[in-house]
Amino acid sequence: MRIIHTTDYKDMSRKAANIISAQVILKPDCVLGLATGTTPLGTYDQLAEWNHKGDCDFSQVSTYNLDEYRGLSHDDPQSYHYFMLKNFFEKININLENTHVPNGANPDAAAACAEYDRMVDEAGYPDLQLLGIGRNGHIGFNEPDDVFSKGTHCVDLTQSTIEANSRLFEREEDVPRQAYTMGVQTIMRARMILVVANGTNKAQAVRDMCFGPVTPACPASILQLHTNCVVVADSDALSLC
Ligand code: F6R
Repeated sequence: MRIIHTTDYKDMSRKAANIISAQVILKPDCVLGLATGTTPLGTYDQLAEWNHKGDCDFSQVSTYNLDEYRGLSHDDPQSYHYFMLKNFFEKININLENTHVPNGANPDAAAACAEYDRMVDEAGYPDLQLLGIGRNGHIGFNEPDDVFSKGTHCVDLTQSTIEANSRLFEREEDVPRQAYTMGVQTIMRARMILVVANGTNKAQAVRDMCFGPVTPACPASILQLHTNCVVVADSDALSLC
């Protein structure tokens, strides 16, 4: 695991965007695994800026997002699909047919998850997987548990995740209680993993991820075993390391 220290959110976003941009330049038809949440927004903005300048071409790239709320359709403004469209895909020259998010509108969890696993498998797994990290060490929606998860599955969100995500909803009651998420095993199959983190509220999780025991009680800790994992974090997020 390599840790890249950055001064602040802007610096973190720019360095993370540089790494993703290098991946796209080196392999124009690469597969990117993407995350939602507030942390990657600056990275997406930076990539969109370089895309407009002609420096980073997404026309052959395909993407697979980590997760989606169960029960929300693709056009629901609170869905992760919609989030990706507004915050990234509509700002770059990507072919929307090459963008993928688990189908939250399919109430049959087993079928929705199996279908997503099949698609990610057929795509050959991400060349680069971008991850944020939850305050409890979750990656995707893989919450602290007794075991590491495998493929895409349906999860009950923990109270801390519901509270953290309620800032994006009008009321906490509106936050869906379940989500479909790529499993830890699938995430680990990406050829490179890039974790972004900023702010003091992530400091404990970043410390546990980088230096704690490898345990499903902190799902991100398994990234210590990945052979090509880079953490790009600001000084606040690294303050306990
Ligand atoms: C989002 C996701 C989550 C977030 C994490 C951090 O697709 O998979 O694991 O990366 O909850 O969220 P932010 O960046 O909002 O702090």
